[in-house]
Amino acid sequence: MPAFAAALLVGALALAGPAAAQSSVAEGQKLAFDRSKGNCLTCHDIKGGDLPGTIGPALKDIKSKYPDRGELVAILSDETRRNPQTVMPPFGRNLILTEQEIDAIVEFLQTL
Ligand code: HEC
Repeated sequence: MPAFAAALLVGALALAGPAAAQSSVAEGQKLAFDRSKGNCLTCHDIKGGDLPGTIGPALKDIKSKYPDRGELVAILSDETRRNPQTVMPPFGRNLILTEQEIDAIVEFLQTL
C-alpha cells in the first residue's frame, strides 16, 4: 500500500477510539504469542495460548492485580527493576519489543 494510504489509515485508527483499542488488543495478543517477539507462553499460561510453560505465574485477573497500566509497562520494560533475580527478559531495555509493542501487549494483558 502506498505510504500516503498507510498514513491515512494510521490517522483513521488514531481517531477511531474504541475500535483502535480493540485492534491493539488483537495486535498485543499476536505479539505476546509470537515466538520471535514476546514469546510469553514459554513461561506463562495465558488464555487462548497453546503449550504454555510454568516458569512464571499464569497471567490472569491482571487488570484487578495491576489496575495501574504503568506498572505493567514497567514489568514488561524491565522486570529486573522490581526483582533483580527474575528470569523474565527486560523486553524494553533489551529492545526485544518497542514501546508501541509493549503498549499493545499491555492492552491485551488488561483483558485477561
Ligand atoms: C523466561 C521466562 C519469562 C518470559 C519469556 C516472560 N516472563 Fe513474565 N514473568 C516471569 C516470571 C518468573 C515472573 C514472576 C515475577 C518475577 O520473576 O519477578 C513473571 C512475571 C510477570 C508478570 C507479573 C505477574 C503477576 O501475577 O504478578 C507479568 C504481567 C508478566 N510476567 C508478563 C509477561 C509478558 C506479557 C511476557 C511476554 C512479553 C512475559 N511475561 C514473558 C517469566 C517470564
